[in-house]
Amino acid sequence: MSIEVRRLGRADAEAYRAIRLESLEQEPNAFGSVYELETNRSLADFADRLSTSAVFGAFAKGMLIGMAGFKQETGPKDSHKGFVWGMYVRANWRGQGVGATLMAAVVTAARDTVEQLTLAVVQGNDTAIALYRKVGFEVYGVEPRALKSASGYSDEVLMVLIL
Ligand SMILES: CC(C)(COP(=O)(O)OP(=O)(O)OC[C@H]1O[C@@H](n2cnc3c(N)ncnc32)[C@H](O)[C@@H]1OP(=O)(O)O)[C@@H](O)C(=O)NCCC(=O)NCCS
Repeated sequence: MSIEVRRLGRADAEAYRAIRLESLEQEPNAFGSVYELETNRSLADFADRLSTSAVFGAFAKGMLIGMAGFKQETGPKDSHKGFVWGMYVRANWRGQGVGATLMAAVVTAARDTVEQLTLAVVQGNDTAIALYRKVGFEVYGVEPRALKSASGYSDEVLMVLIL
């Protein structure tokens, strides 16, 4: 099966909204945001996010099956950094290299605009941590109790890739 990875634009907002909401609904422990918050956002909000972040989509037979994005910081002293967010591959498509292909696209694009990428991943999400290590990210810390929800606190592993 051939997989096409490309940057998403405003015209992809509907497909992006669907996969983003699916990710929050299906994997509530993997992300800092929550379905209940984002499901109330307008399509224009989702389209705007595709402008303020570089979001990449993986397509199989024209269907969006995975996504990953990064956002460049905007402050006078931190715009050399980008933050990776939203990594998700639809369950049926996992374990076939889609996540690694998406991360490779993120890293390639990031090299044009930033000098380093950071990310935060919930401790215990060993699949995601292994994926990030595979593309070169290293752990630089752990934020205790970084997230709090009805199911309790989660620590986050902090990772960096110097480009
Ligand atoms: C994490 C996720 C994106 C990986 O996507 P994927 O398409 O299955 O990943 P790939 O097939 O490209 O695998 C890449 C690497 O990830 C790791 N990996 C993938 N599946 C794994 C598994 N079941 N167990 C352990 N490591 C695994 C391996 O290091 C693998 O490299 P390898 O094949 O050379 O061993 C996917 O599991 C997912 O969407 N999970 C739910 C959402 C999530 O946790 N997102 C991360 C938020 S920080």
